[in-house]
Amino acid sequence: MNYNASFFRALVAEKLPYERFKHTIGVEVWARELARRFGLDQEAACLAALTHDMAKQFSLEDQVVKAKEWNLIYYSEDLDNPQVIHGRLAAYQLENEYQIKNRDILNAVANHTLGRPNMSPLEMLIYSADLTEPGRDFPGVDKLRRKLYYDLNKGTLACLEHTVQYLKKSNQGIHPLTLLTYNDLKNRLSE
Ligand SMILES: [Fe+2]
Ligand SMILES: [Fe+2]
Repeated sequence: MNYNASFFRALVAEKLPYERFKHTIGVEVWARELARRFGLDQEAACLAALTHDMAKQFSLEDQVVKAKEWNLIYYSEDLDNPQVIHGRLAAYQLENEYQIKNRDILNAVANHTLGRPNMSPLEMLIYSADLTEPGRDFPGVDKLRRKLYYDLNKGTLACLEHTVQYLKKSNQGIHPLTLLTYNDLKNRLSE
């Protein structure tokens, strides 16, 4: 079996509810365009985009069970808001069930929910494309898209800033990994 973008496009079409599938295709289209723009591997970007939310085919309870079984709980905060672990679950599935060995793809999928310090260009691209794909509609999303299209680093920093502000405003806890990611990128860009 050739586990390429076409394979995973068909898989998520079958496994994910329609709205989630539509979001996934939105991320794929936008990730491919950004990869082309910045000279990154377009096939890798599509594969990561198509699979980033595939673990959402499982209920949240099942996601927690699997994450424990597969040793994917890294922070106590992961369990405060278990929605954050589906990226790591998908990366684990890609590596162990579908023999995807490209570490950059696996990292991009695993870290699309929270980020991580020292993200690669592909990781930043998937993190940001997830937030700003064409189906997203929130105040300021166009500005984020423009920033991203102009500069992947600055655009990703703007996406992180947006997320941190949004979580603060809505009185939600901010996962330590997101704060580390935000501070890391801010420091790297001001050097
Ligand atoms: Fe996700
Ligand atoms: Fe997503």
